[in-house]
Amino acid sequence: MTSFPAPAWLVGCGNMGGAMVEGWRAGGADFTGVTVIRPSGTPVEGIRTVTDYPDEQPRFVMLGFKPQKLDEVVPGLAPHVGPETVLVSMLAGVTAATLRQRFPSARAIVRIMPNLPVAQVQGVIAIYTGDFDHDQLLEECKPLTWLGMAPWCDSEEELGVIGAVAAAGVAYVARFAEALGRTAADLGVNPTRARSIAVQTLVGTSDLAKATGESMAEIARRVASPKGTTEQGLAVLDAPDGLQPLVDRTLAAAIRRGKELAEEAGRHN
Ligand SMILES: NC(=O)c1ccc[n+]([C@@H]2O[C@H](COP(=O)([O-])OP(=O)(O)OC[C@H]3O[C@@H](n4cnc5c(N)ncnc54)[C@H](OP(=O)(O)O)[C@@H]3O)[C@@H](O)[C@H]2O)c1
Repeated sequence: MTSFPAPAWLVGCGNMGGAMVEGWRAGGADFTGVTVIRPSGTPVEGIRTVTDYPDEQPRFVMLGFKPQKLDEVVPGLAPHVGPETVLVSMLAGVTAATLRQRFPSARAIVRIMPNLPVAQVQGVIAIYTGDFDHDQLLEECKPLTWLGMAPWCDSEEELGVIGAVAAAGVAYVARFAEALGRTAADLGVNPTRARSIAVQTLVGTSDLAKATGESMAEIARRVASPKGTTEQGLAVLDAPDGLQPLVDRTLAAAIRRGKELAEEAGRHN
């Protein structure tokens, strides 16, 4: 049974915090010593849920609210964050320097960028700290590694890029599958069936890649026989104005927005 560095506080538990809790639950985590703090007090199954900060010194605090809520949260939370607290933030675009300024006594500031498949223990959680060699934080950051692939980043820039690829990337991959389904429906397949087939194609392709260890390029090559139908389709995707420049522009837009959010959060210091 896996247990948290206690006391552990989850401050905010919405869409993403809830997905992480789901993943922890699926993996059989022991929630002893874990408290969810959220204004609505909406109960989280199996975890003590309260609306105000308990009278204890947390070892692990995870920020799971929207970046715009930081100013509202700091006055109540900061006095509880001391030299024994590892503060883990999932707030997109809010830099470690901004967090350090708000929580000056924290033992360490750790930024993470999780993606939604953490709920199925199939996630990617990029992790960054500038405070320590990350080997010194392995114990406190252990729960993050239970949810899938958890790479440590060398810089906040790298965290931003992995966030755009893996966290926002879930939406981009979903859009591609949606487009496949929509085209199938436009070509006459029942729309519900078209959507299911697109999803199963996505799931099957990723399972195949995982099971065989083949790269996506190799899988594409295996499907596309010379002069066949797939090859004709790939020629459209691989054209100079095809998929790669579209993905480049998509990620660039997300990364640019991350930088704007960081500047906005920094200006509120
Ligand atoms: N969604 C993603 O794919 C994704 C990926 C990476 C990072 N993130 C980051 O995850 C964070 C949360 O996003 P989300 O989509 O999960 O948001 P969300 O669903 O709106 O959940 C926000 C949570 O914050 C809580 N909250 C609001 N005000 C609070 C306060 N004053 N004190 C404590 N908790 C408060 C809410 O409490 P109640 O439930 O009581 O209302 C709710 O549980 C964001 O910072 C975002 O940048 C999201």
